[in-house]
Amino acid sequence: MSRALEQPAYLAALAPLADVGHAADPGHAADPGHAADPGHAADPSDGGPVYLDCNATTPLEPEVLEAMSPYFLGAPGNPSSSDHRHGKRAAGAVAAASAAIAQLVGTSAELVIFTSGATEANNLAILGLAAHAEKTGRRHIISTELEHKAVLEPLRHLRSRGFDVELLQPTAGGWIDPAALARSLRPETCLVSIMQVNNETGVRQPLEQVADVMAGHDAYLHVDAAQGFGKDLAPLRHPRIDLMSISGHKIFGPMGIGALISKRRPGGQAPPLSPLTFGGGQQRGLRPGTLPVPLIVGLGKAAELAGRDAEERAASCRAFRERALEALSPLRPVVLGDPARSLPHVLCVAFPGVTSPRLASALAAHISVSRGAACTDGTHEAFSHVLLAMGLPDEQLQGAIRLSWCHRTPQPDWRGVVQVVQRLRGKVPDCFACRVGY
Ligand SMILES: Cc1ncc(COP(=O)(O)O)c(C=O)c1O
Repeated sequence: MSRALEQPAYLAALAPLADVGHAADPGHAADPGHAADPGHAADPSDGGPVYLDCNATTPLEPEVLEAMSPYFLGAPGNPSSSDHRHGKRAAGAVAAASAAIAQLVGTSAELVIFTSGATEANNLAILGLAAHAEKTGRRHIISTELEHKAVLEPLRHLRSRGFDVELLQPTAGGWIDPAALARSLRPETCLVSIMQVNNETGVRQPLEQVADVMAGHDAYLHVDAAQGFGKDLAPLRHPRIDLMSISGHKIFGPMGIGALISKRRPGGQAPPLSPLTFGGGQQRGLRPGTLPVPLIVGLGKAAELAGRDAEERAASCRAFRERALEALSPLRPVVLGDPARSLPHVLCVAFPGVTSPRLASALAAHISVSRGAACTDGTHEAFSHVLLAMGLPDEQLQGAIRLSWCHRTPQPDWRGVVQVVQRLRGKVPDCFACRVGY
């Protein structure tokens, strides 16, 4: 069985709350003013640490808050209440947000299904296709060892129901070779699920080539686009993509909202999804429940801004990256993941000779960084399943941290950061004994 689908340690040993690093938590209770103030979200500006964990969650754009606020504070309205103006106004706002999102990826507004985030969207895509797969007798699914738990866990569930789940191994550069996919496709493959951009390394997957490999095949192609939507839009416009998952809080929108977006095939059919929950029939019955209008408006606005400001944002992230690499160069960091394929706002780096838990906490006075996917932080898993799958040497696995920023991030005190690492290297011997359960 693939390592990524084995029983994860975190199910057995959930960390007590006190162990969850505040470095990964920009909204920590000790800092309530900043959590409430979008102008400060990326930079506390009080001499505190600079937030370099934008892959975990991004600061809210003030324009997004402005767009949402009339729907929080103004007249109420349920989009399903079609008999009065209040309901119609809410329905209009939802329709406008759906259209803004759909337009960015080249699909129609009615194919945007709002969810609570990318986790739920991934579950709806993967588990929602299971009934169709069972009906057609095609129970083979292909995914990758690089996926987020929000894909791996529903896949593990389907495996327990008798599905044949195959995970492709990445190259050492952190990307999936489309030739490996071509070798694995079978007539009974019903679904291929592959992420757009890896959350830990920032490496883009070759989606266009994946789509080419699947051109003559009937399997559905689902893309977990949580880390790429709004940052690298072109690949998501590919018509061969059937389903994609997105998340508001990764694109400077609110937490608690995301979407599963479908595309119609040339014959006009949308993917044959079945609902996972049942209720009042909203969203064509695929995801019932009263729509959270202010959050949907926020997601729509965030999508619109992502389209409008894409180049400017990317340019400022590239400049930040160059400055960071230059400042860190005396430490001879090892960049993990193929830099030529990475988005410009992420650096997954190892500082050989130092272990990442020590590193992250020692750096916490200067920068808030993650030592793995935020969603698995606080668990006792020894190393990132992504970096393990890439086959990296122990020393790199042990010393890896992820720095991720955005167009709003100020430069931190890089000199202080360098001194912290130098101090750790001087005092802390290489600590292989620190490994747990590997
Ligand atoms: C690649 C990827 N997929 C899914 C998720 C889950 O997204 P959400 O927090 O919206 O449920 C994340 C969050 O970190 C992610 O990075």
